[in-house]
Amino acid sequence: MINHVKDLKLAVAGEKRLSWAGRDMPVLEIIKKDFARTKPFKGKRISACMHVTAETANLMLTLQAGGADITLVASNPLSTQDDIAAALVKHGIKVMAVRGEDTKTYYSHLNQALKNKPQITMDDGADLISLLHNKYQNQAKDILGSMEETTTGVIRLRALAAHNKLKLPVIAVNDAKTKNLFDNRYGTGQSTLDGIIRATGILVAGKTIVVAGYGWCGRGFAMRARGMGAEVIVTEVDPIKSLEAAMDGFRVMPMLAAAKVGDVFCTITGDLKVIDSAHFKAMKDGAMVCNSGHFDVEINIPALKKMASRVTRVSEYVQEYLVGKRRIYVLAEGRLINLAAAEGHPSSVMDMSFATQALAAEYVVKQAGKLEVKVHNVSENIENKVATLKLKSLGINIDKLTKEQAAYLSSWDLGT
Ligand code: ADE
Repeated sequence: MINHVKDLKLAVAGEKRLSWAGRDMPVLEIIKKDFARTKPFKGKRISACMHVTAETANLMLTLQAGGADITLVASNPLSTQDDIAAALVKHGIKVMAVRGEDTKTYYSHLNQALKNKPQITMDDGADLISLLHNKYQNQAKDILGSMEETTTGVIRLRALAAHNKLKLPVIAVNDAKTKNLFDNRYGTGQSTLDGIIRATGILVAGKTIVVAGYGWCGRGFAMRARGMGAEVIVTEVDPIKSLEAAMDGFRVMPMLAAAKVGDVFCTITGDLKVIDSAHFKAMKDGAMVCNSGHFDVEINIPALKKMASRVTRVSEYVQEYLVGKRRIYVLAEGRLINLAAAEGHPSSVMDMSFATQALAAEYVVKQAGKLEVKVHNVSENIENKVATLKLKSLGINIDKLTKEQAAYLSSWDLGT
């Protein structure tokens, strides 16, 4: 299988959308021009398992400009933008991604991405690397390194390393400040609300919205939901984050207490069964539940199915579960609401994440054979370059330390 997309005729529309997104990705554009000159990936095969969106398309074209031979597969069955997948095929990228693909098809695509013998891999959620470690271990030695885009993926990779099973160097792109402080916070904050609104059309003002998880994504969503007039409740398991949420002015309580009062629930924790049977039992009639974490495990939908006497599809992204006399609405089947019901984070913030990805991939090639097998952080050089270019693109100038100030900061003897 070389390509598997929904319909190549969608390429014209996809091309327009990907260049529209590109307008808002100036840092990636600068890197693309550099790569076109320096060709860091000449003769290299890259397999990427990522959300197939207009922003990812711009990343793929950047890597291609650097000489890479690319295979792209979806990192989530519901996030693929079929027009973008078609447009990328026209650019000569091998794409296997169809919105709504079943699990078997999803994994047949991932298998093919590995059969294409990549020397560099990119993941969003660590499914590709996980498959490699399960089934294609002998290929690990041929891979120079792998990049990971998301929190859940980095958690899985660190677990792999902790079990001494990691077989190749990986770069935790998610953990770069240029990624998580912006994409996770402002990207998820906006796109999650966007997804909920597109799926349901609800008025946010006056609603009680329950946010499970107060990492950067949860914070961003809580902040934006409050901005639109919701009363926001945060549920957490971490005492520091709970305290932060409380001092940020949110009500903090256990999910069981929140379940009784919430109108809309959104899980963003990275863990499973955050909303479970006991919570469904406590919810009000008409409660809506959705998820913005990477996998569809945060809401226990199988348990809800068992409790329900009837399940009806209300609209493309809303299903009604009748539990006794109460209706509970599940949005986007518990999959990432921001990518399933909306188009993911805005291009401007993905610009920073994907500029970081592109430079991390270049770093992996430059360090070929020298990188230790472990989870690496993105270098400070790369982070500073991305932040500096982004500031420049926004027309923002900042101060520089004077010599005297720099000397003061590295001194120890100048006290009171
Ligand atoms: N993750 C969240 N938003 C995204 C987007 N627009 N493109 C790719 N990955 C994403």
